[in-house]
Amino acid sequence: MKIIAIISSPRGKNSNTLKLVNAALDGVAAAGAETEIIDVAKLKIKYCTACNVCHKTGVCPIKDTYNEVLEKLLSADGIIWSSPNYMINVTAQLKTLFDRSPRVTHEQLFDGKYGFSLTTAGSRDVNFVLDVMNGFMKMCGGKFTGGVGCTMAQGPLGMEAAIGKSYEMGRDLVEAIREKRKYPEQEALHQAWREGFRHVIIANKEEWPHNVDHWIAKGWL
Ligand SMILES: Cc1cc2nc3c(=O)[nH]c(=O)nc-3n(C[C@H](O)[C@H](O)[C@H](O)COP(=O)(O)O)c2cc1C
Repeated sequence: MKIIAIISSPRGKNSNTLKLVNAALDGVAAAGAETEIIDVAKLKIKYCTACNVCHKTGVCPIKDTYNEVLEKLLSADGIIWSSPNYMINVTAQLKTLFDRSPRVTHEQLFDGKYGFSLTTAGSRDVNFVLDVMNGFMKMCGGKFTGGVGCTMAQGPLGMEAAIGKSYEMGRDLVEAIREKRKYPEQEALHQAWREGFRHVIIANKEEWPHNVDHWIAKGWL
C-alpha cells in the first residue's frame, strides 16, 4: 500500500506544516504502508491554460512535471494533502496543482482512494483551509477521513497535540484503506455529482472524447 503526502509550503524543512506531515507519515509507516513526499513548492508547476486538451486526449500538453505528479497520485492508495494557511486559503503552489487537474474531476480519478488534510496557520481559519483540500479530494471522487489543523497562536502545546493527532490520522488512513471504509454521506455526494455532471459530459461529447470513453468504461453513461 502506498501513501503520498503533498507538501506545499515554500519554507522547506523549516515548515510548521511539514511537522504534521512527518508525524502523519510516521503513523502510516507504523501501520505498514509505504510513504512518499511530493513537494509542489519545488516543482514549478505552470498554470492551467483551460485548453481542454486533457479532456480530449487524457494528457495535459503543458511541458512540466505535472503529468508525472498525477501518475504518482493515481498509483497511490491514499493521499495526504497539506498546506499552510495563506490568506485564508491553500498556497498558490497547491492551488496550481488543483487547477491543473480538471480531468481528475471530470473522470473522478480519485474514485476508490482515501485521504485527509493537514494545515497550520498563524492565528486562525484552519477549518476553511482543511475544507478546501478535502473538498478537492471529494470533487475528484475520493473520500476523506478528516483533517488536523493547528494555529501557532496555540503555542507549543497546541503543536504537540496536533502532531499526536496527525500520527493517529496516518495510522487510521491505512486502516480505512484496508477495511474499504464506507462514508455514506460522501458517497451520496459523489453519486449526486455524477447524476448532474452526466448532462455536461453528454453536452460536450464531441469536444471531450477522453472523458466520454472513461464514463462509458465506468458504466456511468
Ligand atoms: C503569505 C502568507 C500568508 C499567510 N496568511 C495567513 C492567514 O490568512 N491566516 C493565518 O492565520 N496565518 C497566515 N499566515 C501564517 C502561516 O499560515 C503560518 O505561519 C504557517 O504555520 C506557516 O506554515 P509553514 O511553516 O508550513 O509554511 C500566512 C503566512 C504567509 C507567509
